Amino acid sequence: MCGIVGYIGKRQASPILLDGLSRLEYRGYDSAGIALLNGSATVNIIKRAGRIDNLRAAVAEVSHQGATGIAHTRWATHGAPTDENAHPHRDQSGKLVLVHNGVIENYQTLRDQLTAKGHSFESQTDTEVLAHLVGTYFDASDETDGPTRLRSAVQAALGKVKGTYGIAVLHGDVPGVIVGARLGSPLVVGLGEGEHYLASDVSAIVAHTRDVVYLNDHDIVSLSNDRFDVASMAGGAAQVKVSRVEFSADDAEKGDFPHYMLKEIYEQPQSLRNAMRGRLSRDEGTAILGGLNMTPQELRGIDRIILSGCGTAFHAAMVGEYVIETLARIPTEVEIASEFRYRNVPADKNTLQFVLSQSGETIDTLAALREARRKGIRCLGIVNSVGSTIARESDGGCYIHAGPEIGVAATKTFTSTVTMVTLLGMLFGRIHHLSSADGLEMIDELEAIPDKITSILKQADKIKAIAEKHANAEGMLFMGRQANYPVAMEGALKMKEISYIYASGHPSAELKHGIIALVKPDMPSVFIAPDDAVFDKNVSNIEEVLARKGPVIAVTTEGRTELERLTKDVIYVPDCPSYLSPLLTVIPLQLFSYYTAVARGCDVDKPRNLAKSVTVE
Ligand code: F6R
Repeated sequence: MCGIVGYIGKRQASPILLDGLSRLEYRGYDSAGIALLNGSATVNIIKRAGRIDNLRAAVAEVSHQGATGIAHTRWATHGAPTDENAHPHRDQSGKLVLVHNGVIENYQTLRDQLTAKGHSFESQTDTEVLAHLVGTYFDASDETDGPTRLRSAVQAALGKVKGTYGIAVLHGDVPGVIVGARLGSPLVVGLGEGEHYLASDVSAIVAHTRDVVYLNDHDIVSLSNDRFDVASMAGGAAQVKVSRVEFSADDAEKGDFPHYMLKEIYEQPQSLRNAMRGRLSRDEGTAILGGLNMTPQELRGIDRIILSGCGTAFHAAMVGEYVIETLARIPTEVEIASEFRYRNVPADKNTLQFVLSQSGETIDTLAALREARRKGIRCLGIVNSVGSTIARESDGGCYIHAGPEIGVAATKTFTSTVTMVTLLGMLFGRIHHLSSADGLEMIDELEAIPDKITSILKQADKIKAIAEKHANAEGMLFMGRQANYPVAMEGALKMKEISYIYASGHPSAELKHGIIALVKPDMPSVFIAPDDAVFDKNVSNIEEVLARKGPVIAVTTEGRTELERLTKDVIYVPDCPSYLSPLLTVIPLQLFSYYTAVARGCDVDKPRNLAKSVTVE
């Protein structure tokens, strides 16, 4: 989704802003722009459709730069991805400049009102309307002090707006100040020595500072070289807390890997260790999850669990349903976050809800969290991004500690989230009926998983060869049963996202209820068939596909070599209890989609039309 970077200090702003935009590329964008203020009343705007390199080349040609600036990557919502629609946008005077993430829902009404007053617009965007609106309040204000005047104008204009925003604003008549504000779209202030930063995502500024203040909804901030002032537009004092970012700029680099996605796939042994670190107690034979903020008595009273998320997080939630019901016997329901908000799901005081999100900013998941809390349901977050909105607004929860995930296709955060829901299953299971010996056995099995993933990663060349063989397939079917049904859905999602091959995931037994009509020689079926209670059933389904000349790729457990009788394309994973199997079986599918996308020449880390963090509905 859109990204914002702002800088005010003594250094040239443009290299800092362009570097920040590059670090936000992973969020997805279709155009980019920058505004620079060099002390005179003129604000220079340079913006280009397409890649940030186009913008970089255009900025290099501008001689008068400046030590204050704001910049933006746009992911089109209103108006096509063109130079004109790219941000920043100016007001009617041309002196006020604004960048915006989010959606102004009543922009057409505002635009009509402004047009009637003689305003003319250069773009089709809601953002330009907002710039003009702020400009009208600035012009009409009688405040003598420029920074106060700008801030008051921003606040007054936002009072007229319906929708969501994270904005940064500059004015040629008020050099030395950037005003920012947020509602429903993240914004963070970076603290430096004699300089300040503003960004929609800490990864844009972490190369310069790790001391940050996450703004809350309704906050408005003024930044100058040497101070920042946050106030709440909702009234009352703003909550200002300086946080230390856990990761460094190096953690968000590709290193020797050709793509972030591949790097993140290979990070999984370590990211899983990080998810479990300090959370497994051998003394008590259980998981320790202090962040839940609940006593054992409160946990014991829970008789229903709801898990919500979108996309990959939704698939992790589906695995969670299986694992929690298996280990803890607590009825667990999975709700796609975007649907939860519009449903009226029955829940009582003994219901506990979890929202699952890598970014912690997905608007649909945030809306599910808010709806749950509105109904008085205790709602906890399982989140990767520290300090994100979901992390801050939930009643408690756990960070998965996977570190920055830059590849748009989620990989390590899937396995880390699944690890976290497994720890929840263990915790609830131990509270109810599992013995400490059961708990210890589970700890042993969980701790063995990272090394087992390492052994699967060693088969990358074989998986690459299988991917290259099927790279021209017209479509792909992914089949699995029990906890591997969501893995089939996840494998299909990865394939669609990065290779643009149509793929769908199904419970294997559904094959004969319709899907089998699709089976043909250029429609491979990927079967996840580990050595479990339904292995033989999966084999029967494989036979059904082969009988109709559909190619089969099988993921199975080491030792089940009989599948080689049926297909040459067999990938082995180590043995493990079936509730942990998704942590292993998903790894070959991640590599399979990665190598398929590479073979098809796709831009793996920046797939078309996709955004890493989806902050619009
Ligand atoms: C898939 C993917 C998306 C996200 C979804 C939720 O690879 O990345 O489907 O899983 O947009 O995002 P988060 O987890 O940030 O809430």
